[in-house]
Amino acid sequence: MFTREEALRRVEGASPARLFGPPTPDRRDQAKRLYRALAGALHPDRVAPDDTRAHRASADLTRLYHDWRHAEPVTLRTTRGTYRLTDLHAVGSVANLYRTDGPHVVKLVRNPKLNPLLHAEWHALRTLDEFTDEHRRLKPYYPTLHDTGDVQRGHRAFTVLEPLVDGFVTLTDVKAAHPHGLDGRDYAWMHRRLLRALAGAHRAGLVHGAVTSDNVLVHPRRHGIVLTGWTFAVETGQPPLATDNTTTYPPEVTAKAPLSPATDVHMAHQLMLDLLAHNEKRQRTFARGCMQRDPAARPDAADLLDEYDQLLEDLYGARVFRPFALPRRGA
Ligand SMILES: Nc1ncnc2c1ncn2[C@@H]1O[C@H](COP(=O)(O)OP(=O)(O)OP(=O)(O)O)[C@@H](O)[C@H]1O
Ligand SMILES: [Mg+2]
Repeated sequence: MFTREEALRRVEGASPARLFGPPTPDRRDQAKRLYRALAGALHPDRVAPDDTRAHRASADLTRLYHDWRHAEPVTLRTTRGTYRLTDLHAVGSVANLYRTDGPHVVKLVRNPKLNPLLHAEWHALRTLDEFTDEHRRLKPYYPTLHDTGDVQRGHRAFTVLEPLVDGFVTLTDVKAAHPHGLDGRDYAWMHRRLLRALAGAHRAGLVHGAVTSDNVLVHPRRHGIVLTGWTFAVETGQPPLATDNTTTYPPEVTAKAPLSPATDVHMAHQLMLDLLAHNEKRQRTFARGCMQRDPAARPDAADLLDEYDQLLEDLYGARVFRPFALPRRGA
């Protein structure tokens, strides 16, 4: 709750964006709460009947909030293009992902202090793009950077990406749809592709650093996997720029040691344990065999590709396409 003086200080002479922040959809709830709290402090029932200053501020506040809500969606400009943000598509660990009025999506960092993380992601995505110019069959495993925001101090960095929207869900969604865990034959194709994506990144000299279920996009019908969320990526052997306190990390990250491909191997197999059904004993044993405390004792993603295929052949015989779909919500 605000006092009359605090409310006056905020409202008098304010502009909609100064009072409520940039008019992006993710700020609507926050703006509404602020509006209500300020309106409460300036309400005619709370202030003296002859308090004309408060009455004027109250009217100004109503106008400011109206203008803020009806402001044009944020338009982001670069030397290459103009992107008008429309709907909020996803909320990530450091950024929000918006649809635009064009074909692309925009990843806009929530706090300009974290701009360096987006710069790290640009570097990783450009490295992967060059790498996959030579290894073209790996291109679909990584997001494609279309454009980046010109960075000025205090402004929020943003990345314009090719959209992965039609038919894509996250591994978090897959997990939610299968609370008792996945059949090993369904997780098999997801894990093979994830290993391929990781092995490619490692060859390109990168460590992803945040192989979590939110960052793995799945296209159930096409059996597609895209490894997104590269803001925590570093070149092999570098320390992380930051860590995310909602993620469970391998021991070396907690101990602030440099990241190595083994970090991703650990995380990918933690993910496997999280996703697989409990009775998938042999696959679970395989996963645990990739999660040693000592990073040097963990196998390479490239070697694991063969070992995993061997295990799948032992378990299920010759490979066959197994359709996968998420149950429809509410069905
Ligand atoms: N190109 C894309 N098209 C559509 N959705 C995407 C795309 N990239 C990511 N997403 C979705 O948006 C969410 C947030 O994106 P992302 O993970 O890149 O942001 P972040 O979590 O803030 O950053 P990071 O994971 O790099 O730290 C992802 O979990 C994913 O569901
Ligand atoms: Mg993410």
